[in-house]
Amino acid sequence: MIAAKIPKNQADYVRRILLKYSFIDREFKIKRTDTHVLIPLNKEPSEEILAEIGAHLDVVDESFDVQKKNPRSMREYLKGRIEPGKIDEINKSFDIIGDVVILEIPDEFESIKYLIADAALKFTKRRSVYRKGSKVKGIKRTRSLEFLAGEDISETIHKEYGSKFMLDVRKVYFSPRLATEREKIVRQVEDDEIILDMFAGVGPFSISIAREHMVRIYAVDINSDAIHYLKKNIELNKVKGEIIPILADVKEFLKNSDVEADRIIMNLPGMACKFLADAISSLKRGGILHYYEFSSDFEVPVARIREAAGSREVTILDKKRVKSSSPGRWHMGIDAKIH
Ligand SMILES: C[S@@+](CC[C@H](N)C(=O)[O-])C[C@H]1O[C@@H](n2cnc3c(N)ncnc32)[C@H](O)[C@@H]1O
Repeated sequence: MIAAKIPKNQADYVRRILLKYSFIDREFKIKRTDTHVLIPLNKEPSEEILAEIGAHLDVVDESFDVQKKNPRSMREYLKGRIEPGKIDEINKSFDIIGDVVILEIPDEFESIKYLIADAALKFTKRRSVYRKGSKVKGIKRTRSLEFLAGEDISETIHKEYGSKFMLDVRKVYFSPRLATEREKIVRQVEDDEIILDMFAGVGPFSISIAREHMVRIYAVDINSDAIHYLKKNIELNKVKGEIIPILADVKEFLKNSDVEADRIIMNLPGMACKFLADAISSLKRGGILHYYEFSSDFEVPVARIREAAGSREVTILDKKRVKSSSPGRWHMGIDAKIH
């Protein structure tokens, strides 16, 4: 192939001009001898360019080694190994929680799962990569995870809108996809409210609210690991409000308490309907309910709230598709005022 042979002391200057006019073939590696630099060219420089260069340049015939290119993205890295559509699927299901990456890898890619995980590690620059081993299940709403790459450390600190959440992805539920929803709720809260976070987890709703407002929050969860991290997170964040962590089944807690809340958060979308009547009896007149349910429409969750409210009047304040849960189904959010 053709190449520009330039005396060493002029090489840098000439290379810059050749680069400016896109004459350099960047697929190949530049060569250096004791006296000259040889630059691979994709076309012969015109008289004008040679005039602009004004330096000594011989156009010669030379062979070059191919440049090793580093892929710049997960997509580029996996190109040719997986169909592009499938790479997009893997990319969409990606969750990053602090230093941990959680991937969904379909069974058909079992044989290249480590390659995919290495790509994820490399391009996210996180510490650990796990593969979803099951759906979120059971009362604690956790999933099994298969360790694939990096270090097998499932405890991490996730940062969200200035809050820090310490958690172990193997032991507790946490979804970074609820960040916007949490922020929406934070903006609605007013100082001095009494709040009940019925399914608090490691406290993402409670902590985000208490960092901004002088409130009292009863944060209940049945999972002792979630309450352990909730306590750590209260210490980790400079909360203005008071958070009372309660390890209990919220039904039992409500039986034995006389909490009357201005606002209740019910983020247990698969089962919250079973707790609606208890929640509404603990809500002050004019109090706000943030109710979540997996559903394909808004009618079903709204009807449930109205039914549980009985003779109390219900004003629906907002209806939201918070995140997709499965094809055609959503993690729906309904904000309702119960008079
Ligand atoms: C979907 S997670 C939500 C956690 C948290 N609100 C968040 O957004 O990350 C639901 C939580 O409810 C808890 N839970 C399930 N049943 C419960 C019950 N009967 N009483 C109290 N907590 C319960 C689970 O342990 C889990 O942490």
